[in-house]
Amino acid sequence: MQIIHTISELRNILESQTGIALVPTMGNLHAGHVHLVELARQQAQCVVVSIFVNPLQFGANEDLENYPRTLDADFEKLEAAGADIAFAPNIKEIYPNFDAATNDLGQTMIISAPPISKELCGASRPGHFDGVATVVMKLFNIVMPQLAVFGKKDFQQLFIIRELVKQFNLPIKIIAGDTVREPSGLAMSSRNGYLTPEQKAHATMLHACLKEFVESIQQGCGDYTALEQVTAQTLDNSGWLTDYVSVRSARTLLPASKEDKQLVVLAAAKIGNTRLIDNIEFATKANN
Ligand code: PAF
Repeated sequence: MQIIHTISELRNILESQTGIALVPTMGNLHAGHVHLVELARQQAQCVVVSIFVNPLQFGANEDLENYPRTLDADFEKLEAAGADIAFAPNIKEIYPNFDAATNDLGQTMIISAPPISKELCGASRPGHFDGVATVVMKLFNIVMPQLAVFGKKDFQQLFIIRELVKQFNLPIKIIAGDTVREPSGLAMSSRNGYLTPEQKAHATMLHACLKEFVESIQQGCGDYTALEQVTAQTLDNSGWLTDYVSVRSARTLLPASKEDKQLVVLAAAKIGNTRLIDNIEFATKANN
């Protein structure tokens, strides 16, 4: 595996390659990322994995400074997973107009994600999906892959990236990787590393609550708003600070109506200072 830090070096190498897949990451890799790399490996001749902690997608009071940076361990995992190239640029390489010391964007051009990006995670993380769309567009333009792999755990992100590709007519196939979970059901996340052992045990409740939510719908409960409120309350009563619990159309990500049969229930909640997200996509069996 080659480790590359600059765009020019990467472009030189990729010039002679066909069948390129990109797996964008922010590093601190876990089994969920490895699964995405393996999916890419099955479908492409050349697998590029980017590792870049994107300052544009972090809010002022978020964990940009503390976000775990574990490059050497990441490179080892990528090598073992069969990646061909690890692309780990610095901030100036990606955002030459951005002043990392003062967080001043200067003349940086940013993509404005569609209105759905202001809901769910976007409601409490203003600008987050503009930052994601911008860096992903840049990475697409740098690598020019035929396909790119993203995880379903970040369901809203995946939705917005699919829109990015559709609306900017990018010739890139987006592949979605299933969420990888701990045996306890907890979704793998780089932010799980912030949890104490007690918090980690308690964090399994998020997925359990979403499973109950889905079961209630499958058993015929058609009052989605009440279910959302009860689930958020259950989490809050157990010490979480719930951001949202919301059932949406999996196709449009708009609030689910009775006509929608392909649904996704999504949640974000804080345990201590750590914000976790999870979701379950499902087809309604019930005639609600
Ligand atoms: O999902 C992530 O790790 C990031 O949001 C991404 C897609 C790499 C963009 O920075």
